[in-house]
Amino acid sequence: MRVLTAGESHGPGVLAVIDGVPAGLAVSPAEIDADLRRRQLGYGRGARQKIERDAVRITGGVRQGRTTGAPIALQIDNRDAVNWERVMSVEPVAEPPDAVTRLRPGHADLAGALKFGHEDVRDVIERASARETAARVAAGAVAKALLRVVGTDVLSETKSIGDVSSEPRFNRDAIEASEVRSSDPKASTAMIAAIAAAREAGDTLGGVVALRASAVVPGLGSFAEWDRRLDGRIAQALMSIQSAKGVQFADAFVASHERGSAVHDPIAVEGGAFVRSRNRAGGLEGGVTNGEDIVVEIAFKPISTLMKPLPSADLRTGAPSPAHVERSDVCVIPAAGVVAEAMLALVLADALCEKFGNDSVDDLCAAVERYRQRLRPIDNR
Ligand SMILES: Cc1cc2nc3c(=O)[nH]c(=O)nc-3n(C[C@H](O)[C@H](O)[C@H](O)COP(=O)(O)O)c2cc1C
Repeated sequence: MRVLTAGESHGPGVLAVIDGVPAGLAVSPAEIDADLRRRQLGYGRGARQKIERDAVRITGGVRQGRTTGAPIALQIDNRDAVNWERVMSVEPVAEPPDAVTRLRPGHADLAGALKFGHEDVRDVIERASARETAARVAAGAVAKALLRVVGTDVLSETKSIGDVSSEPRFNRDAIEASEVRSSDPKASTAMIAAIAAAREAGDTLGGVVALRASAVVPGLGSFAEWDRRLDGRIAQALMSIQSAKGVQFADAFVASHERGSAVHDPIAVEGGAFVRSRNRAGGLEGGVTNGEDIVVEIAFKPISTLMKPLPSADLRTGAPSPAHVERSDVCVIPAAGVVAEAMLALVLADALCEKFGNDSVDDLCAAVERYRQRLRPIDNR
């Protein structure tokens, strides 16, 4: 399964193309829109989310409510584009827009402009922007639909915002009812207060998102080659999210201080099936899913655009200049959780198809069913 996205933050829209989704999967725009809506919610988002009402247009790969096996094209229009027609015009305009040259620390502005030789940082801003994550979330909704066919569910919960933390409980109803996607009402209130205080100070906040995939088919990924190890593939996908700066499986950084006897998950057999008394591996051993929940956390930095900008320099003159201020969020952790769900779902759906085939959903289900027969001690099969 391959996924490409295209489109600029203030252009006509963003687009995802997913190749390799099996035929026969039920896909509905309403289901995708529900996830797009979840990405837009959350205390701490900026004015942009009041303008956009994201909705998908499926322009390829789905007919009569089912995938055909052809590439699936998902388009999401940018409602804000009407305000940016001159700046974003494909054709050169008579009165060119002013170039953005005041570099924003923490953004791709300087690195991107140096790399491509751009003289207007707008050419970097537009594509580095996390508006692109709308396309990822749409693609992820299709991946989630495929995972559901084999019973796998993916859910995110906010573990911390700024210095307010709460142990994730993955209570879906409580999470969806919280403006910051925490199952703990007390922590939700404190997180909202922390965001409000940061906004008041012209500042921003980051945090940690916890992510869980439950009822995962064992045996996805491989230990046999470095680039097939699924933990590595998951980490790459999650680290690719704008402002993600760290990933750990289960509580890996805590475990690194402990003895092996406290860390590894004992294996037992109950009712003829292999079971674990704990899951400190986070659902993967040797880069292969072991049937336990995948539990992974992602650290996101405080977002970069500050209403009180940091000292910076001008790309053209090199003169000291405060950073350019672009309309911005204060905290994106709740939205980042929904994006993280999409990225994990895409990697797991890809690994599922790799193992069981991606021509038809029926064939895939039959292969999974047959495979499940041998997931027990050899003499019990
Ligand atoms: C859902 C989401 C929304 C974001 N919105 C903003 C924003 O409004 N302002 C901002 O400065 N950064 C925002 N970011 C983060 C930047 O896009 C990101 O920090 C920047 O592109 C540089 O990339 P890097 O932080 O991954 O190095 C957002 C990130 C996510 C995941």
